[in-house]
Amino acid sequence: MSFADRLEEARARIGARLAEAAGGSDPLHAAMRHALAGGKRLRGFLVIEGARLYGDVPALDAAAAIEALHAYSLVHDDLPSMDDDALRRGQPTVHVRWDEATAVLAGDALQSLAFELVTDPACHPDPGVRAELAVSLARAAGARGMVLGQARDIAAESAGRALDLAAVEALQAGKTGALIEWSGRAGAVLSGADPGPLGAYARALGRAFQIADDVLDVEGDAGLAGKALGKDEGAGKATFVSLLGLGGAKARAADLVAEARDALAPFGPEADGLRDLAGYVVTRDR
Ligand code: IPE
Ligand code: IPE
Ligand code: MG
Ligand code: MG
Ligand code: MG
Repeated sequence: MSFADRLEEARARIGARLAEAAGGSDPLHAAMRHALAGGKRLRGFLVIEGARLYGDVPALDAAAAIEALHAYSLVHDDLPSMDDDALRRGQPTVHVRWDEATAVLAGDALQSLAFELVTDPACHPDPGVRAELAVSLARAAGARGMVLGQARDIAAESAGRALDLAAVEALQAGKTGALIEWSGRAGAVLSGADPGPLGAYARALGRAFQIADDVLDVEGDAGLAGKALGKDEGAGKATFVSLLGLGGAKARAADLVAEARDALAPFGPEADGLRDLAGYVVTRDR
């Protein structure tokens, strides 16, 4: 199967699982389903492809969980008090389509849903595995992971403070890196394998991914990206592009793609989906 077909198949399965998990007839449920629809599902794909390296352990609920958590982070990221964005995945953001209170609450509920998905016995028969997925997800999502990165991003913006490269790296390791690293490690955790190699792969992948997001913000096509672009410079955000220039940022991303692929050296053709994913994160147009 080609990489594109594999990603499309994972997208369809994850999307169906999420739509089912967020079922309900209140506006809250409609807002959750709206927020869940239409992502690239790179994090969920990473869970599924990681699990594939070690055999055939079911990974769909863990994949859906990380996409629910990621969707929550986007709903809150787009709020007027954060990035104040009106468009996400080509659709009006939740606070625009509904209202701010609904967006806050839908984000809250999506975060809870993520933990429900990894702790439900349907995710994995071994309670130890479920507990490991849940505690590592809590760490990745919280005040030492994604939320810390988001807080530093917002703080740097409102202070108009220029960050150096090391500070941007640390910020992005939280904001974007932590959930992507969790996604990589999850496949091994589900399989009872050592998460070291996939963790190293996903750390490099996550760094390349956020550089590509920063590059897209400068030279992407907003129609294709489905979100407003050109915002980082206006907001005075320190990114790899502001620090290294477009050429320097792209060169750094290419090095990280090579580093990610190197981490897959212990694996054979079963890791080709992950090798292709590393190239895709820096060549994507959305
Ligand atoms: C966008 O993530 C937000 C960042 C962490 C930079 P994605 O580019 O993975 O967004 P979707 O899920 O495909 O919409
Ligand atoms: C968002 O980063 C990261 C999280 C939601 C954790 P950005 O603010 O750069 O993402 P976009 O560009 O809005 O997608
Ligand atoms: Mg942001
Ligand atoms: Mg944003
Ligand atoms: Mg961005």
